[in-house]
Amino acid sequence: MKEKILVTRKVFPAVIERLREHFDVETNDGDQIYTRGELEVRMPGKVGALVSATESIDAPLLRHCTSLRAVANLAVGYNNLDLAALSTAKVIATNTPDVLTESTADFGWALLMATARRTGEAERWLRLGLWEKWALDLFLGVDVHGTTLGVLGMGRIGRAVARRAGGFGMSVLYHDRAPVDAARELGARYCGKDELLRAADHLIITMPYSAQAHHTIGRRELALMKRSATLVNISRGGLVDEEALADALAEGRLAGAGLDVFEQEPLVCSRLLASQKVVATPHIASASEKTRMAMANLAADNLIAALGYGAHAGRPPSVLNPQVLDTA
Ligand code: GLV
Repeated sequence: MKEKILVTRKVFPAVIERLREHFDVETNDGDQIYTRGELEVRMPGKVGALVSATESIDAPLLRHCTSLRAVANLAVGYNNLDLAALSTAKVIATNTPDVLTESTADFGWALLMATARRTGEAERWLRLGLWEKWALDLFLGVDVHGTTLGVLGMGRIGRAVARRAGGFGMSVLYHDRAPVDAARELGARYCGKDELLRAADHLIITMPYSAQAHHTIGRRELALMKRSATLVNISRGGLVDEEALADALAEGRLAGAGLDVFEQEPLVCSRLLASQKVVATPHIASASEKTRMAMANLAADNLIAALGYGAHAGRPPSVLNPQVLDTA
C-alpha cells in the first residue's frame, strides 16, 4: 500500500500525477485555504505534505502529525515553516530556490518601471476615457536609467535584479548582513542600510522575512529616503510598515511604491489600495507559466526524494534542514 501525502493547495495535474506514482495523494481541488483546524484533521496519518506559503507549519501543528517525515514548501521563502520545530520533530523541510530567480527579478523590474513611470495610474485614467489631448506635463514620472538602484538583500534574487541594472546604466548599492562576494562582479557597492536608503533613487526589497526583519522599512527608514524615490517590495509584506508607507506617499515624501506582497494577504491596506502612487499586484512575482511549473516540479522532486523514493531518494535537491537527513 502506498504511503499517504497531503497537497494543501491546487497544483498542476501533471505534477500530481508524478506524486501519485509513489504516494496515495490527498489533493485540494477546491483550492480553499485550509484553516488550522482542517490541517489538524488532514495532516495526521500523512508521511509528507506539499504546502504553500499560505500554510503555517509550526510546533503545535506538528504535535498532531506523528507520521510526518517531510514538508515541501512550494515557495523559496519559508517564513511559514518553523524550521526549528520541524528539525526537532525530525521532519525534512525543503523549498524551491533557483528556478524562480530570473522570473522574480524580471517582475521586480516590471514593478520598478511601472512605479517610476506611473503606468498603472496612466492606464486607469486612459481607460476611464479621460484622455482628451496630448500634454507636455501628462503623467510626469521619474527616470530609471542613469539613476542609483538600492538593493536590500543581495541573495540570488537581489543579484539577478542588480545584474539587470547594467542595461539601464545605473549605479547599484546594496545592503545585506555582510558584503557578498558575487555582488562585486556585478559592480554593486556594499553600504550600510541608512546610506542605502538615503542614496537610492529606486529601492527594491529582496531580502527574506523573519520575525526580526519585521518592518525593516518603517517610519524612520522611510524618512531617510528621497522624496523622488520609489520603493518596490517583491519579498514579503511584513518587511514594510504599510501604514508608515501610506503616510509617506500621502504626504509626498516618496514618489511611489510597487508592491507584490502585503502584510495581511489577500487583504491590502485600504490606504495603499486607494493611492494612485501604488502599483499593486497579487503576489505573482514568480508567476510565469514556465517558472510556476518548475517550482511545482521542484517541490515534488523534493518530497519524493525526502521520503526515500525516486532517483534521488534520500537526497532532496533543496533541503533546508540537512541535519535531519544526516540523522535519518
Ligand atoms: C514566493 O513568494 C516565494 O517565496 O516563492
